[in-house]
Amino acid sequence: MAKPPINPQKIVVLSGAGISAPSGLATFRDGGGIWDRYKIEEVATPEAWAKDPARVLDFYNERRAQAAAALPNDGHRAIAELEKRFEVVVITQNVDDLHERGGSGRVIHLHGELRKARSTVDPTLVYEIGGAPIQIGDRCAQGSQLRPHIVWFGEEVQRFEEAEEEMRSAGKVVVVGTSLAVFPAAGLVRRARYGAEKVMVDLEIGPRPYGFTVMHGSADKVLPTLVKRWLGGE
Ligand code: APR
Repeated sequence: MAKPPINPQKIVVLSGAGISAPSGLATFRDGGGIWDRYKIEEVATPEAWAKDPARVLDFYNERRAQAAAALPNDGHRAIAELEKRFEVVVITQNVDDLHERGGSGRVIHLHGELRKARSTVDPTLVYEIGGAPIQIGDRCAQGSQLRPHIVWFGEEVQRFEEAEEEMRSAGKVVVVGTSLAVFPAAGLVRRARYGAEKVMVDLEIGPRPYGFTVMHGSADKVLPTLVKRWLGGE
């Protein structure tokens, strides 16, 4: 497939749980993270839903309430500020809405959204529920049980082709707060172009994707510095 031209005015951000950590939301794989406290196969798979839907609902009800109570941080706001001068597309693995509440206008949620519920018979029936819980007995317009609008392990990631296209034409790419442990999301970094400026922001010193420079530190501290540089503030 012919590669689209690189758009120097387009910035694509690929974010993970680390950008929401300064807002008080737990990451998944850091010490004490979500997958230290819950088993994926008990709360985040279609099989878990079939076996014990109430337990799955409780898991996401708790996270939805936490996300609704959290506030965007300087990292989310810095990314939104880039929209003053650039076309910015945020591709996030996160299911909170902190990018939107931080001011970003274009957010692609690969793994779904906590603030939405979905029908279990018609996936096009999606409802905005904010921070409210989903209970057993809550039904869609067609009478079926509502489920979290979340991509469980083993389910298809949302809007992935769209995300790939955006990444392939980006003139600047920022990967922030992700361990790049989960595919296909992590594979998006390989769509970043050789000629694009590529930066990875992370608290830890870890393996970095080819061609990326790394800025170590917390997203809410590092991103404002990077954004100031890109907006010509320095
Ligand atoms: N600033 C920047 N990076 C941070 C910060 C911070 N304040 N705190 C943690 N990090 C980094 C960690 O070093 C790690 O690299 O964020 C990353 C968090 O990695 P994970 O917990 O694996 O989260 P994520 O990469 O988003 O997980 C991907 O896995 O379970 C699935 O669907 C879930 O979307 C999630 C996916």
